[in-house]
Amino acid sequence: MRRLAPVLREDGVELDLISLIRTILAACKDISFRVGQADLAGVLGSTLDENIQGETQKKLDVLSNQLLKDMLLESGFVRAIASEEEDFVVEGEHGGRFLVAFDPLDGSSNIDVNSLTGTIFSILPVPEEKMAGEPITEQDFLQPGVNQVAAGYVMYGPSTILALTTGKGVRFFTLDKTHGSFLLTQESIQIPEETQEFAINSSNQHKWEIPMQRYIRDILDGKGGIRGKNFNMRWIACMVGDVHRILCRGGIFTYPAHTDEPTKPNKLRLLYEANPMGLLVEQAGGLISTGSENILEMQPTELHQRVPVILGSKQEVKICLDYHDYKF
Ligand code: AHG
Ligand code: MN
Ligand code: MN
Repeated sequence: MRRLAPVLREDGVELDLISLIRTILAACKDISFRVGQADLAGVLGSTLDENIQGETQKKLDVLSNQLLKDMLLESGFVRAIASEEEDFVVEGEHGGRFLVAFDPLDGSSNIDVNSLTGTIFSILPVPEEKMAGEPITEQDFLQPGVNQVAAGYVMYGPSTILALTTGKGVRFFTLDKTHGSFLLTQESIQIPEETQEFAINSSNQHKWEIPMQRYIRDILDGKGGIRGKNFNMRWIACMVGDVHRILCRGGIFTYPAHTDEPTKPNKLRLLYEANPMGLLVEQAGGLISTGSENILEMQPTELHQRVPVILGSKQEVKICLDYHDYKF
């Protein structure tokens, strides 16, 4: 099949990509409404099912996944999707130029307590050799994060906010619920290079490897310790919320490996959590790493692969990496 050259907007962004992002946003508007309806629509609580990763699915996980899946696969712009809530890749239209990996609802443990949740998405090109129309497989999604043509999240909080990058900086858009449109509210988002705020689930402290133990211990020593300053701690239990705070005012977020679970040491997923957040953070002047390699340059090996994550303010991430003996 012969393919037409992509049509570009003045700023160089492909028109099909813009239409695809609009499709994601249409689904997210619906998710935002349903998250807000909560008990009124009977959508709180769990289903009786588990996803492929052995996690119980909440009703809103399933609903959000279905909305995104249906709208993306019908859009004509998407060749295939991968989702936290889908065991395998699902194919869409043959003419689609893009692959979309997503976490339909991030922060599921917050759903039933009326706290922050979000949708994370990563858009990849269809590999050149598959442009002619052969079936898309898991292998085609296993591209390093630097290949992403766009990435973002929609946060369902007191307001619904989109953070978006198409590889030229990060912008925030706020959903105006009176008109139903996402309006540009902040441009050129820049993460301050230094910070005194950190985010880690410290209930897992006994499971961390020695470098992370030392890094956090020195932070907790405050002004009188080796760091010579006091830190503040925040943990939202929703990566979208923690990354949003870091994009707004800086900070470091980490979900390190757990040494007590050798077969499943990591929590966050590479393709639809770490990579899209990594592109946003790097485009806003921050850094992201596993502690031993740059996440965006990793060659993924599995669709639902999990990785340790350290991200945020550049200088602070570098200090954390010094404890891991990793030099940028
Ligand atoms: P999800 O709800 O999509 O499974 O992701 C939850 C993730 C992430 O959003 C958050 O940072 C972390 O898990 C929270 O972990 P704890 O349960 O350890 O707080
Ligand atoms: Mn998630
Ligand atoms: Mn999720």
